[in-house]
Amino acid sequence: KNTLSTKILGSEIKYFTTTDSTNNQAKKFAMQGAPDGAIVISEEQCGGKGRLSRSFFCPKYKGIWFSAILRPDFLPQEAPKCTLMAAVAVARAIEDVTGVKVGIKWPNDVLYEGKKLVGILTEISAEMERINYIIIGIGIDVNIEKEDLPEDIRDIVTSLSQITKKQVSRLKLLNKVLYHLEQLYIMAQRHDFAPILDEWRRYSITLNQDIKVISGKDITYGRAMDIDDDGALLVEINGQIKRVLAGDVSIRPR
Ligand code: BTN
Repeated sequence: KNTLSTKILGSEIKYFTTTDSTNNQAKKFAMQGAPDGAIVISEEQCGGKGRLSRSFFCPKYKGIWFSAILRPDFLPQEAPKCTLMAAVAVARAIEDVTGVKVGIKWPNDVLYEGKKLVGILTEISAEMERINYIIIGIGIDVNIEKEDLPEDIRDIVTSLSQITKKQVSRLKLLNKVLYHLEQLYIMAQRHDFAPILDEWRRYSITLNQDIKVISGKDITYGRAMDIDDDGALLVEINGQIKRVLAGDVSIRPR
């Protein structure tokens, strides 16, 4: 029996015990005509992809590694807002299921006490000014213990089980993530992004902070002031406001 509380998200589900990357599989599935809201999920990924061509650690049964295929009817420029939306959905779901209060680092890392708990990788396919599909890949560190982590990320990554000192139900959490993602997606489809961006602002740990903006070899320092209607970060650099788009940019606290 399908116990999901959603109609769109998870309307079709592709399940793997192991795969390279659910984003890659979702791309294939999308090209074969997967419907709006289809998801691809795997118990582990051997080639989990992160932003900026980084890798993402996805051990078997210890987290939620999945990708949602969305086919919204809005313009490609609006797609970055979908990734902010996904971060809000995950933050809500984590609070519902565990009570843990998380923060969002622009654009969409979910952190707890400065350590990363969730990564989100959005990939867009658009042609002729129309979105063909958006893949939102979400990785949540649920039951990863400290000793499970490779040494190089041990001090920068955490998990829900480390925070709560309990095992957390991946099924319950996935169900909540899909539920909130669907609620927000319905609003987005009505072009009603303003409340979503406002909620993102409330979760944000980036705004009003001095930050370092890293774009390839270029490093600039500034203050994160706000996000604009497109979801770009507005950074004040020497008295001038600069728009920073998620693309190839990463930010760090100064
Ligand atoms: C990041 O933090 O840079 C983004 C990480 C995104 C990881 C998720 S796990 C499910 C999906 N499949 C992937 O290969 N990546 C995303």
